[in-house]
Amino acid sequence: MKPFIYLFLVFIAGVLSAQTLQVKDLSCEHKVNPVGIDVRQPRLSWKLNSDTRNTIQDSYEIRVATKQDFSAQSLVWSSGKVKSSESILQIYKGKATESGKRYYWQVRVWDTNNKESAWSETAFWEMGILLPTEWKAKWIAPGMPSDTLKASPASLARKEFTLNKPIASAKVYVTAYGMYELYLNGQRVGQDLLTPGWTSYNSRLQYQVYDVTEQVRQGKNAVGAMIGDGWYRGTIGFDNSWNFYGNQLALLCQLQIRYQDGSQAIVGTDETWKSTQDSPVRSSEIYNGEVYDARMEKKGWDVVGFNDKSWHKVRLVTHTFSNLIGSAGVPVRKIQEIKPTKIFRTPEGILVADMGQNMVGWIKLKVSGSAGTKVVLRHSEILDKKGNFYTANLRQAKQRIEYILKGEGEETFEPHFTFQGFRFVAIEGFPGEIKPENLTGIVIHSDMKPIGTFECSNALVNQLQHNIQWGQKGNFVDVPTDCPQRDERLGWTGDAQVFCRTAGFNMDVAAFFTKWMRDVAADQYSDGGVPFVIPDVLKKVMKGTSAGWGDVALITPYTLYQIYGDKQMLEVQYPSMKAYVEYIHSKAGKSNIWRGGSVFGDWLFYRPGINSHPEPDGYTNNDYIATAFYAYSTHLLKETAHILGKQEDESQYAKLFEQIRETFIKEYVTPAGRIASDSQTAYVLALMFNLLPADLKPMATQHLVDDIKSRRNHLSTGFLGTPYLCHVLSDNGHTEVGYDLLLQESYPSWLYPVKMGATTIWERWDGMKPDSTFQDEGMNSFNHYAYGAIGDWMYRVVAGIEVGKPGYKHILIQPQLPSDDRLTYAKASVNSPYGEIMSGWEQKNGQLKVTITIPANTTATIRLPRSNASDIKENGQALTAANKSAKMDKDTTVIEVGSGQYIFDYPLK
Ligand code: BGC
Repeated sequence: MKPFIYLFLVFIAGVLSAQTLQVKDLSCEHKVNPVGIDVRQPRLSWKLNSDTRNTIQDSYEIRVATKQDFSAQSLVWSSGKVKSSESILQIYKGKATESGKRYYWQVRVWDTNNKESAWSETAFWEMGILLPTEWKAKWIAPGMPSDTLKASPASLARKEFTLNKPIASAKVYVTAYGMYELYLNGQRVGQDLLTPGWTSYNSRLQYQVYDVTEQVRQGKNAVGAMIGDGWYRGTIGFDNSWNFYGNQLALLCQLQIRYQDGSQAIVGTDETWKSTQDSPVRSSEIYNGEVYDARMEKKGWDVVGFNDKSWHKVRLVTHTFSNLIGSAGVPVRKIQEIKPTKIFRTPEGILVADMGQNMVGWIKLKVSGSAGTKVVLRHSEILDKKGNFYTANLRQAKQRIEYILKGEGEETFEPHFTFQGFRFVAIEGFPGEIKPENLTGIVIHSDMKPIGTFECSNALVNQLQHNIQWGQKGNFVDVPTDCPQRDERLGWTGDAQVFCRTAGFNMDVAAFFTKWMRDVAADQYSDGGVPFVIPDVLKKVMKGTSAGWGDVALITPYTLYQIYGDKQMLEVQYPSMKAYVEYIHSKAGKSNIWRGGSVFGDWLFYRPGINSHPEPDGYTNNDYIATAFYAYSTHLLKETAHILGKQEDESQYAKLFEQIRETFIKEYVTPAGRIASDSQTAYVLALMFNLLPADLKPMATQHLVDDIKSRRNHLSTGFLGTPYLCHVLSDNGHTEVGYDLLLQESYPSWLYPVKMGATTIWERWDGMKPDSTFQDEGMNSFNHYAYGAIGDWMYRVVAGIEVGKPGYKHILIQPQLPSDDRLTYAKASVNSPYGEIMSGWEQKNGQLKVTITIPANTTATIRLPRSNASDIKENGQALTAANKSAKMDKDTTVIEVGSGQYIFDYPLK
């Protein structure tokens, strides 16, 4: 071979081998290496990593084994080479999975250029306890029969046991009625908080699984549990009542040990455990906080050799094992720590620390002093007009921590079965001078992976994005709550419904909502109605269903399907979805109007009174709202039936939708496109839910725009209209008005609270009025995510990242710019099920630069606004030469691309 040909071949080989095709980010049931799942045929997902444009998976091969070496004997499934471009949520189809078993898996792929990846790194999942009969432990009640009627001390329960052979592995399965913390040989087990989490306990109680191989030893061991009231029997709901689910705490704990010789041992809760209520946690409650007397600590209670003579025997209690489920949700954990930004005295003389951020969790206190000294921490979201500590908006929630020192040098304290929503902490009784190092804010929430970012040239909008994300952190604490501070903190269905799409951009909420949606189904009334809150702890005082709230049964699963491509979510929820629509159907009957269906209306819509230009209020007729949501949920049910191949249902609900729509038009819409309930929300719902004849849409949109203009570019919408408002404008040719609203700084608007110093989203547009006085203290949370639903428009319209096919298998990149330079740049990213999507634009001197990343194994349609195809450069080259697909749609260039990174540059038209 001639030397130059040889060199050329070596060069080419080098180039080819430098090109990578890898498989990464393996996950199972939306989780990384989950332990204790009870989905018998789990679904497996992976992402492709490729440095070549247009990468599409041609085929894949999965192998699953019970040993990490994938030896032939340990193999339980090999998919063989499957020709498919699917790389998310592929169902395991091997041998039946077994309780407690760990399954290792790998995947390799081929792309359409026949390039082959190596086997991926090994991931695993581990099954939980699949059969009720496999629970060998017994339910024990640690308390005495009388400990039931009010906040009571946490119980301690313990047991010593001997393991007489060398240990290969140990796992513990544990849950409680109440909340528990588990300890083994003096060490806390796991990092999860507020376990076992909140579900509809009567039908679903989660257990947790921890690998404790490192925590047990041959010889003597001790296991201990602390059990507090939790959601189970602490005060929860509106009526300040206790014992919603039951009045007796109970614990179930099963430690499974595998010895090196292959034999097994089980140590479970049973009648030999001992217990005391003489614990340092004198009370610990979700709303009210904790009283902790460190002098009462039982030193060594969770290690071998503790003298528990004075402890009483536990009682066995009968509870079913059939409601036990593996933890489907996302555990609550300590996520971050923040330090006070200042410590000061208020005008009233109270010592207060400002954490600089409205946060959820608690304060870790460091203190030294004499035994018996009492330090009290009270928590508040906001200071009043005069700068004084303000707690009236907490209603009955005390949010108060009382720590009594034991007097043994520096003491560090964190509470156990409670959390607080606060920015300011009032400190009383602190011995000596308090310094920032004495106080650390521990931020807790469900440990969801952050997957989204948004940024633009307007600092206030960036703060808004920050506030939206912090609203999500503070209110995704095992269930999606309305607020984290007052005596509520409930899974309000309407709030969750309006915010779920935004939530899905910021963080991976697939597992979080998978768990919660099953509780929606579990707590759904027998007539198909959906309670106001899930888990439904209001049913004794406030039973009912409201339009826009109950619709969570359809809107949330459908939304999750769009963003995560999870069809099973729809399959599992389908009976609940259908039951809800049938419930409305039974109420509306032949009239097709759902009279009385809206209890909350367009909750917290604009009402005049506090600004100097009082405009009319934003009221929307309740039956109108109910009927619009009836139509929308029927439409979503029809769509879902289509996706699931349920043809009969599809045609039945398509018909029903048309009937509702026809009646709706007759009842509420004039031939001039004016809507009887002439409010912004009325137009928004009609346009968003496609309830108007095509020819009336422009007129209806114009009425909406006129209304916004007549209010000097202000909105008047509440919980139901707000999430869709800007979408309706940008979908109907008025993006500019959307920007007017987004960038509006005066009340009512999204940026008004930002200008007032908000660090989270407020419940009300005017939580704090321009003169720094407050709205009604009876309902004025400063951490309520609902209005944060504008985040969805920022990602989807400002940055332009939109779902083309479920799960972003096909992506639409379609940023819509303001007509001027009110924003000079915007960029967003989302780590989708297929990988990182990025879209950013920047305008400078009449030129636009658009930077886009499309992940491997997806395709995208890119719409470049205000362009001329022939003027566009892509990575410096003329676009029309590089991409033959380019087409013009009015002043927008539309191109089809595959995966890769793209930079487009062009003069703005
Ligand atoms: C909650 C809401 C909820 C509303 C329904 C309030 O108390 O905080 O966010 O959706 O009640 O009326």
